[in-house]
Amino acid sequence: MKTLRKAVIPVAGLGTRFLPATKAQPKEMLPLVDTPVIQYVVEEAIRAGIESIVLVTGRGKGAIENHFDVAYELEDTLRRRGKQEDLDLVRDITHLAQFAYVRQGEPLGLGHAVLCARHAVGDEPFALLLGDDVFDERDSALESLITAYQATGKSVVGVQEVPEEHVSRYGIVSGSSGSGTAWDVTAIVEKPRPEDAPSRWAVVGRYVLEPPVFEHLAALQPGVGGEYQLTDALAILAREGRLVAAPIPARRYDTGNKLDYLKANVEFALKREDLRSDFAAYLKDLVKGF
Ligand code: UTP
Repeated sequence: MKTLRKAVIPVAGLGTRFLPATKAQPKEMLPLVDTPVIQYVVEEAIRAGIESIVLVTGRGKGAIENHFDVAYELEDTLRRRGKQEDLDLVRDITHLAQFAYVRQGEPLGLGHAVLCARHAVGDEPFALLLGDDVFDERDSALESLITAYQATGKSVVGVQEVPEEHVSRYGIVSGSSGSGTAWDVTAIVEKPRPEDAPSRWAVVGRYVLEPPVFEHLAALQPGVGGEYQLTDALAILAREGRLVAAPIPARRYDTGNKLDYLKANVEFALKREDLRSDFAAYLKDLVKGF
């Protein structure tokens, strides 16, 4: 079985659900406590054994490239001031992985963004992580997909069960056998109405894909919302019997959604040794007033 070396992280979307914060900065740079969302996603990929990361960027996303690049002036100032701990923190980010950047000229949809990474990926399987979906780092979301990929040799979508009223926000796959392990996907539908959904198993921002997906993406016509939908290419893999769904046993936050973003900040702060007790005391006091 081939090993997985590369990951694609598309970050070229407009982030309209988070305006006005995203007018002049990428939503992927919004912090959870003190670390940008995109860094959590990159660190998850590295924990799963990925060495090389292709970020699909677009207009106004320069802050993401700068975040993973050397910050010469800042580093020099920290060095002269003897702030070794801060200096290490800043420098370590640069050495997390090998980074490559490709541009998506227009945000024409997730399918189009993934196709933009075709030449950077080449002819090998790759992980795909959405740049605004964050999982609790104590679990290994991507690793459960890699395990399923190595067991089946097929492309994998990471899924979680969502309430019926939320199925129209996601790509929904045909349901499981109930065994708790990966299953063959026979159908996948983008943002179905609850009455048309094949199940409540939603695709949640993590994938392992085989190179033939690029052929299917290149042949796509615009789908739901006039965008080139990754789901339409995955539907072809499903019909060919080349797609499995792997349940992700980890707490997920869609940080492109305001409520989920707020929850993520509170929960991540409560996991931090340096903040936990003061912050928990503050929250307890605060909720007394409600
Ligand atoms: P989303 O649909 O969550 O992102 O795409 P969006 O379009 O930026 O968000 P809203 O709905 O306007 O608030 C999931 C991921 O795919 C990327 C986004 O950056 C995000 O990380 N994406 C989406 C692209 O890279 N290109 C696109 O054309 C669309």
